[in-house]
Amino acid sequence: MERLKLDVNGCFDPAAGGLAHADLAGVAPAALAAHDAFEVRRRAGEVGFADVPADRSAADATVRLARELSGRFENLLLLGIGGSSLGGRALVSALAHPYHNLLPRDRRGGMRIFFPDNSDPATFAALLSTLDLAETCFATVTKSGGTAETMSQHLALRERCVARFGEQGYRDRCVLVTDPAKGALRAIADAEKLRTLPVPASIGGRFSALTPVGLLPAAAAGADVPALLDGAAAMEARCRTADLARNPALLYGTTLHLMDRLRERHIHVLMPYADALRDLGDWFVQLWAESLGKRPDVGPTPFRAVGATDQHSSMQLMMEGPNDKVVTLVRVGAPRADVALSVPAGYRAHAEIAYLDGHTMGELIEAERRSTDAALRKAGRPTISIELPRLDARAMGELLMMLELATAYAGGLYGVNAFDQPGVEAGKRYAQGLLGRPGYERYRDELAAGAAPDPRLVVA
Ligand code: PA5
Repeated sequence: MERLKLDVNGCFDPAAGGLAHADLAGVAPAALAAHDAFEVRRRAGEVGFADVPADRSAADATVRLARELSGRFENLLLLGIGGSSLGGRALVSALAHPYHNLLPRDRRGGMRIFFPDNSDPATFAALLSTLDLAETCFATVTKSGGTAETMSQHLALRERCVARFGEQGYRDRCVLVTDPAKGALRAIADAEKLRTLPVPASIGGRFSALTPVGLLPAAAAGADVPALLDGAAAMEARCRTADLARNPALLYGTTLHLMDRLRERHIHVLMPYADALRDLGDWFVQLWAESLGKRPDVGPTPFRAVGATDQHSSMQLMMEGPNDKVVTLVRVGAPRADVALSVPAGYRAHAEIAYLDGHTMGELIEAERRSTDAALRKAGRPTISIELPRLDARAMGELLMMLELATAYAGGLYGVNAFDQPGVEAGKRYAQGLLGRPGYERYRDELAAGAAPDPRLVVA
């Protein structure tokens, strides 16, 4: 069976000051240690994401619930933020029809899916006023069980559902995806007798795309969940070895780490040549940033681009700006659909258009990817290529598992814990203080006591 292919040659070009094979050999013991340290934490039950494909019970329950909801409702609102939203969104964008939500039911193969994500009242209010609540169910997804953005959306929907359909109507429309034992949402689920799906205790938000967090919206949109997990399982099996030549996740994480540490390429760009992978970029940015940005001297900056769109935007910066980036170009082997081009006789006199005659748009975007890779390399700009045989559920499972494992290994190489996020807590504490959470008064007071802004630095 065809499988994901990784090619890091574009980081080993001597003419462009790339890495040498000796660099890879030199880091191999550290890569082995990072691989083994991850396996130890995994076996100890501390980090569970790589074991998800092996136990299908939660996935099966998720698919069953998605089917049931799908039989009764038109719309699913996925209330969650950060890792509790981005993985599901990446899966739905990659696997559903590009205009899924606009299709009639019989062409959609699942519910319409919405990811409000942010707590911006303007978009949330607009969504609520657009959808018919009678046809809408919602999943509140929060591992910790108390995230303010998510719970504010839950509260708003709960109130509307109870007012319109009563307590049972609310229960029918609501699913909670949360920690199986801990957190306010778990207690609420028990008290309100709501249906729940588990986020295993050993899996944090940004590593939870293949748990019910991402699987529920994917299944509700009609994605092939077993194939997704088969792909993830196949990648996990490939990555059991610590041999850099055979473990794509280890080679990817190690190469990016070396490029950052030895070649000052601190910015890591993910640039798929497929609109369907646009949201994968947001997911990767969160995964790489929140997992690795842990010390003032550690934290490669992830950046998202989409080919060919960004060839007309950030590519100028990548090609001629500071040489501090590695660009990973993602190729999708066989497009799901193609569009043949034919140039009418009246246009053929124009050489700048005539050459398109007889080609397809698939050929055009592939030519753009190849040329961009070649041009970047010629300009001494390192690239990496990831090739998916096609864009389907199995390939997405492979890709997500590879990027998650690469992040875990990179954490080991950088010497940081890839699985926590202490830095995001400070801002949350101030916000809770401002909103009057008991016990958080000192954060509110600290903000109030802050130095007044220097008026010379304010323009109003
Ligand atoms: O990756 C993470 O851990 C975070 O991005 C969380 O997913 C995010 O903060 C939401 O957390 P929770 O699922 O607890 O609501």
